[in-house]
Amino acid sequence: MVLANFLGVVLLMELIAGGYRFGADGLSMNYYVFNCPLAEPIVRSTVTSALQSDPTLAAALVRMHFHDCWIQGCDGSILLDSTKGNTAEKDSPGNLSVRGFELIDDVKEQLENQCPGVVSCADIVAMAAREAVSWSGGPVYDIPKGRKDGRRSKIEDTINLPFPTFNASELVRVFGQRGFSAQDMVALSGAHTLGVARCSSFKTRLSDPVDPTMDSDFSKALAKTCSGGDNAEQPFDVTRNNFDSFYFQALQRKAGVLFSDQTLYNSPKTKAIVNNYAMNQAMFFFDFQQAMVKMSLLDVKEGSKGEVRADCRKVN
Ligand code: HEM
Ligand SMILES: *[C@@H]1O[C@H](CO)[C@@H](O)[C@H](O)[C@H]1NC(C)=O
Ligand SMILES: *[C@@H]1O[C@H](CO)[C@@H](O)[C@H](O)[C@H]1NC(C)=O
Repeated sequence: MVLANFLGVVLLMELIAGGYRFGADGLSMNYYVFNCPLAEPIVRSTVTSALQSDPTLAAALVRMHFHDCWIQGCDGSILLDSTKGNTAEKDSPGNLSVRGFELIDDVKEQLENQCPGVVSCADIVAMAAREAVSWSGGPVYDIPKGRKDGRRSKIEDTINLPFPTFNASELVRVFGQRGFSAQDMVALSGAHTLGVARCSSFKTRLSDPVDPTMDSDFSKALAKTCSGGDNAEQPFDVTRNNFDSFYFQALQRKAGVLFSDQTLYNSPKTKAIVNNYAMNQAMFFFDFQQAMVKMSLLDVKEGSKGEVRADCRKVN
């Protein structure tokens, strides 16, 4: 009796939570429950098996979602290939090595077989990023679904991505323009707990003058990486495939890879947040998941404002 009641309440809560509409966008947690119930399980199993053979793809998927959302909203614009007469976002120097497109194609193909024309490419990217975070040991959370795919992808739009040369004030400002607090921005930067940066993204810190905000041994380590050329990879923290607080601990040791990483510790605007996350991983995880959901809702296209692409690389 008590159990039945309890279950009833849980079910009711699920219905309320699942039925909750995010803004005017018509997105919901249970968007695919009836029309494509295998959507999330297929994303999960495909991403999981890809990550088992290449764990470094987790970072790529999280970054792909960020770049998708930041330019034109979370609308799959990062996935579109260039065409005759249009150079797409992904061919910008700002794509800075975004990869994982084949994995998205693989998921899309399975979903088109399962429920044709239902699951958008934008949702696939958002779900894949979420899976990548939890697979790497980060927070497990749910995201609203129901994004539609956009039709615009232009190289010139990528100028709006944040630059690794930005200082904390500029980062606070550009994230603020998109509705993120300084705390959201620092939490999102914590995505750099995964993956690597190439020498070309930080080499200006190494010479005339050497960036004084860097630990001197660490600057030697970066210089050693760069002796391998512009494409040589430097992990952001000691565990490039694990989602943890080590990124923030590295900033405390002045061992942030990008100027835009280290500035978060050096600026009084954000230092306390870095210290909190370095010490308290649960707090970082909680704030990260909140900020990721918020990011996943940036300028989403609902209903007739977008489409569900049949092929993630081209508009219908
Ligand atoms: C705060 C402003 C940010 C700047 C300036 C920035 C810049 C960069 C740069 C320059 C790289 C290295 C690219 C390369 O050299 O190959 C990178 C990598 C990465 N970024 Fe960011 N990023 C920012 C925020 C974010 C956010 C919000 C996310 C996701 C939520 C994110 C996720 C990643 C990931 C996971 C990688 C590693 C990719 C890989 O190893 O394949 N970044 N970022
Ligand atoms: C990213 O841009 C570069 C140069 O602009 C291009 O050569 C490269 O193919 C692009 N990467 C992807 C994955 O499209
Ligand atoms: C941050 O960069 C902006 C733009 O280059 C500059 O005006 C500002 O003085 C810088 N702030 C700090 C604290 O260095």
